[in-house]
Amino acid sequence: MALTFDDGPGRSTNSLLDELDKSDTPATFFLIGRQVQKYPKTVQRMANAGHQLGNHTWDHSDLTTLSDKQIKQKVAWTSTAIEKITGDKPSVFRPPMGRHNPAIDKLIPLPLVLWDINTRDGRHHDPQQTMSIAMDNVQPGSIILMHDVHATTVKAVPELISRLKAQGYTPVTVDQLLDGKLQNSVAYSFAPHAGVQR
Ligand code: NI
Repeated sequence: MALTFDDGPGRSTNSLLDELDKSDTPATFFLIGRQVQKYPKTVQRMANAGHQLGNHTWDHSDLTTLSDKQIKQKVAWTSTAIEKITGDKPSVFRPPMGRHNPAIDKLIPLPLVLWDINTRDGRHHDPQQTMSIAMDNVQPGSIILMHDVHATTVKAVPELISRLKAQGYTPVTVDQLLDGKLQNSVAYSFAPHAGVQR
């Protein structure tokens, strides 16, 4: 399964990275370009620690309200901002609020990664609920959506990781979960093969 964190980096991101370090757990971060510019050191730290970096647009706008040109720009600016810091362009994209459609997908030069479990952490701000929504719904291949910009989410993470591991789950990056089989302009929300032994 994969832990994914959106909308950062923010003020809580460094403490999340500390927690992930402690348990040697990889995660995937869907970054907002504007925030990347504000927290370059945090972005570099994510990359150095082996986390996967994804593109979450420049300013978190709803893509269904933008022109084709605006969509392409907001994605390209963000990839360039990340590349300037880490030396690598992000390999995955997540549309803000999950809002996309086939016409938008065609404009995105990256695979679109959605989720199968939304912890709604930004709505309830309750570490206990974040953890129980994740644990009640997780299955092999799951992609869990959380937000590193909330301190209450960071609080949920150590316990969540230890419970997942106790149940036999191994947290991996999205690329590892989807086994390098991702295609540009195609949307994914789950890894159906992840529970199958090969
Ligand atoms: Ni978001």
